[in-house]
Amino acid sequence: MKRTVKDLVGIRGKVILLRVDFNVPMDENGKILDTTRIVNALPTIKYLSSKGARIVILSHLGRPKGFEIHKSLWPVAMILMKLLKKRNVDFCNKVIGQEVRDRIANLKEGNVLLLENTRFYDGEEKCDMEFAREIASMGDIFVNDAFGTAHRKNATTYGLARVLPNAVGLLVEKEIENLSVAIQEPKRPFVAVLGGAKVDTKIKILERFIEQADSIIIGGAMAYTFLKAQGINTGASIVDDNCLEIAKNILQKAEEKGINILLPVDHVCVSKSDRKQSVIQSKKLKGDLVGYDIGDETIKLYKKELANAKQIFWNGPMGLFETPAFSEGTFKIAEAIANSKAKTIVGGGDTVSALTQAKLKKKIGFISTGGGASMEFLENGTLPCIDIIQEKIV
Ligand code: 3PG
Repeated sequence: MKRTVKDLVGIRGKVILLRVDFNVPMDENGKILDTTRIVNALPTIKYLSSKGARIVILSHLGRPKGFEIHKSLWPVAMILMKLLKKRNVDFCNKVIGQEVRDRIANLKEGNVLLLENTRFYDGEEKCDMEFAREIASMGDIFVNDAFGTAHRKNATTYGLARVLPNAVGLLVEKEIENLSVAIQEPKRPFVAVLGGAKVDTKIKILERFIEQADSIIIGGAMAYTFLKAQGINTGASIVDDNCLEIAKNILQKAEEKGINILLPVDHVCVSKSDRKQSVIQSKKLKGDLVGYDIGDETIKLYKKELANAKQIFWNGPMGLFETPAFSEGTFKIAEAIANSKAKTIVGGGDTVSALTQAKLKKKIGFISTGGGASMEFLENGTLPCIDIIQEKIV
């Protein structure tokens, strides 16, 4: 068990370097489109503030090449000021240097100083230890609450943990607890719903779920690779031919273990030649037809499986849901999961965005703030930037 902020004693007046993941979606004018990651960082900030710590917050935003004004964390600072109301929030447009040191020297107990985007500095993604040591020299303790970035060994996510006493934040603690349950001690029947396009990146998770789940529902473009692996004609639908062998192995393994893998039986298709849209059964899928969503029969079948579940994990949309004509499958499955009495856990950027669009987020048991991070956690049971944190002393 990792040491958490709650295990830190005597932190009044101490400078806590708190790494969070404020990598929030923004439009081209710097307007923040979703504040979930900021809101989810509040419990740790408030806790540290209530203990009188002086909190210096570090985060990256996007993938800038050096300094880029529209990747500044200033709009995030403004949201933070609103959300933290009574607590003073300051912003500094640098991460290292004398100005930062001066601002920290003036930082009062319980107050917050947000520094600029760590990726404006070359050393961040290289995990340059000189850069990390320079930052570390300004603080007393490192707290990592950036679950969404815990798979990236960067200077402020990993380097700081190498040189400072450290702990995880309350968000990371909650993510570990909930995602571990999904892979270690599921309530049964446990149904895993996996969609999206990239079989190659999801394959390890599928292998994990073959060990854990009672049934696996597959949707999205990934389903076509599995249908083709079963010898079914998939027309002109997207298939990852490099993953056909792996898909065959997974199907075989599932059969041996008695795990039910459910694949679509009908599809919302578009003909490449005349752009006509139709609903086609799997056995009639051929020629220039491209499947973009699961059809009504599949929705019924998947809903029936979900109705019996006591635990559901969902990652990846059922179709090209960003396009309204192909969104029904994803939204109907989202609804079924949200209205289910089962313990529900959802991970992955697109999946959470589908839930947001459908206004169903509040009805989900646990939503991970991690995209790539939650996937890697499910594969390996941990992440490098969590692994490096000190163990709790018991
Ligand atoms: C994320 O949004 O997945 C994390 O913040 C990591 O961002 P990155 O993929 O740009 O490293």
